Amino acid sequence: MTDSNARTLEGLTYFQRTFGCQMNENDAERVAGLLDMAGCLPVSTLEEADIAIYLTCCVREAADIRLMGQVASMKNIPPAHKGLPRIVAVGGCIGQRDGARLQETLPNVDIVFGTHNIGHLPSLIQQRISSGMAVAETLESSEEFVKGLPERRATSWHAWVPIMTGCNNFCTYCIVPYVRGRETSRPLEDIENELDHLAAEGVQEVTLLGQNVNSYGRDLYGRPRFKEVLDYAGSCGIPRIRFVTSHPKDLSTETIAAMAAHEAIMPQLHLPLQSGSDRILAEMHRVYTVEKYLETVHMLREAIPDISLSTDIIVGFPGETEEDFQGTLKVVREVGYGQAFTFIYSKREGTPAAEIVDTTPAEVIQDRFDRLVELVQESVHRENEKELNKTLPVLVEGVSKRDAHMFSGKSPKNQTVHAPIPAGLTMDDLVGTIQNVRIDVTKTWYLQGTLVE
Ligand code: 5AD
Ligand code: SF4
Repeated sequence: MTDSNARTLEGLTYFQRTFGCQMNENDAERVAGLLDMAGCLPVSTLEEADIAIYLTCCVREAADIRLMGQVASMKNIPPAHKGLPRIVAVGGCIGQRDGARLQETLPNVDIVFGTHNIGHLPSLIQQRISSGMAVAETLESSEEFVKGLPERRATSWHAWVPIMTGCNNFCTYCIVPYVRGRETSRPLEDIENELDHLAAEGVQEVTLLGQNVNSYGRDLYGRPRFKEVLDYAGSCGIPRIRFVTSHPKDLSTETIAAMAAHEAIMPQLHLPLQSGSDRILAEMHRVYTVEKYLETVHMLREAIPDISLSTDIIVGFPGETEEDFQGTLKVVREVGYGQAFTFIYSKREGTPAAEIVDTTPAEVIQDRFDRLVELVQESVHRENEKELNKTLPVLVEGVSKRDAHMFSGKSPKNQTVHAPIPAGLTMDDLVGTIQNVRIDVTKTWYLQGTLVE
């Protein structure tokens, strides 16, 4: 899939900016791997870059606006090297959605690529340089799971492992199935091989990735199941396994049993609720009711009593009433989420929900959103308080951004934990290792503690 022409890119510097979900972060690691292989050099500022690459998200309008603003303002930044105009490449979901149309809105974009042709980026850059013309290439779908692309991981201790891409669910507000295409699973053997390599390299944590990991394998011969991926991942020697995202309608009892069976599978699950109103859930085409969702939560807590749940919630879906919204608040109170991502509904052209006329004033939606955020914060704080005085294994990620004398890392439930760097130890000793931390302070956004033996 990679291109031998790419060698002529040798010595060019590149800068990447990534918006959106973990899928994009993983794509960014692949772009970095490809460009490194072509002899390009990563730089940490746009000013130093001969090539600027944007991996974009189009799930909500805010990401579109951010991209447009950043790319448009780049015209004023002088090239990194005299006589070598900066090449601007936009890929990912916005690239896939808009194709060449993007260059009409943003004339300084030289290259548009999509979600299915990351492997072609070096040759697209090459083409741009030799022809001097703008290039746009998007593919309808990848015939098989994009594999075999080199990648340069952002850290040595964590790896993303994509297991499937695309989505067949067509929630009525969501653009993802249109830009990421239909569900395509990666062969089980490929996943197992990658996990074995990562275990041998000493990677401490793997996040299995897919828009809907629970429907893994339905498109493959022999129909391997997500449970099999979990069983392998949970026993391959990597200490921590996480996965995103699970659609509540597809979370099976065997998946829950596999989560409970392996210590390496972290006691944390992202289970997007979206709304706590059956009427809105039906309009969203989510295919579950509040009762069914709560049953799943109950099953999870029976099997893994200490599990921490996180979620996504949309406020202001067209036609949402105060009563519908009260339903959402009720579920948030009942579940007790450890983390929640809250979004104001964003109209996406081409989705069925974009056709629904809504007259709810923006202030009403903002007020609901503010009330939800407040309730979520109370819930997160309450969940964090449960960790007080416990000793938690923390995967150390780096120096704390709040205090250079502290390190930061993640607990099994994915909470941020800060602790002082003990005398005699350096960050080099700590980063990428799992350390026991006794929790002394619990806040909404973090836990704080002391390293113990
Ligand atoms: N508006 C607001 N939020 C959205 N999401 C997806 N589409 C939209 C939209 N049009 C949210 C959902 C999803 C998360 C990744 O983004 O909550 O789970
Ligand atoms: Fe979008 Fe729904 Fe698919 Fe998630 S399950 S990616 S919200 S269509």
